[in-house]
Amino acid sequence: MTASDQGRASASRETLERGSTPVIAIDGPAASGKGTVALGVADQLGFHYLESGSLYRLVGLAALQDRIALDDEERVAEAAKGLEAAFDGGRIRLRGADVTDAIRSEAVGSAASRVAVFPAVRTALLSGQRAFRRPPGLVAEGRDMGTVVFPDALVKIYVTATPEARAMRRYNQLIEKGNSVIIEGLLRDIRERDARDSARAVAPLRVAADAIVLDTTDMTIGESVVFVLEKYRAAIGKAGR
Ligand code: C5P
Repeated sequence: MTASDQGRASASRETLERGSTPVIAIDGPAASGKGTVALGVADQLGFHYLESGSLYRLVGLAALQDRIALDDEERVAEAAKGLEAAFDGGRIRLRGADVTDAIRSEAVGSAASRVAVFPAVRTALLSGQRAFRRPPGLVAEGRDMGTVVFPDALVKIYVTATPEARAMRRYNQLIEKGNSVIIEGLLRDIRERDARDSARAVAPLRVAADAIVLDTTDMTIGESVVFVLEKYRAAIGKAGR
């Protein structure tokens, strides 16, 4: 076998492995609880976890740091292509600096949702997201996991809750961290972000045709995790795995 044959064999092994590695795609609007549910499911199954929003947040932060205009698609896409990000042990680094907390600010969230409207930015982040699919499985969370990034996901869940319930959850999180916030402002931000995420031309926030809707307004995190695990077990049973 020549070196290039070996390279091809290992590349196709990798493709096969990825193809058979189960993905649970969890999509939904901001503050719907999808992140907490996704983490709980990944933890229960011992699966890898992709929080795709953090990649858009990193691009937003890099653009802010480099003073790139958020409506300059070409330059923002360049920043996305050259993103020097590292994920280790729950910490997130950008160009070597720990930005785990910095990317959670409302300012970076809003920058993320502005840069996420550009097709060139989304394309630049595609292969990086798919690389998270490794055995034994992946729980991927975001807006377009089931519709665009992992259309062949074994289970697709669309997590939602009323805007008021979501604003209340965000409010409690921020108060717990010692921030002073106004709930009306949070509700307005959530509505604006929903409108932008749903109205964009590329990969808009929508329920995939084969997704199961999970409304968490009156559910606990534990109940929501159990719901997803049941759907996953039913799907592997059906697939005969
Ligand atoms: O999920 P999170 O609120 O951290 O995402 C920040 C922003 O990134 C979202 O408002 C959305 O515009 C964008 N995003 C996206 N596609 C994803 C994940 C996030 O467009 N898969």
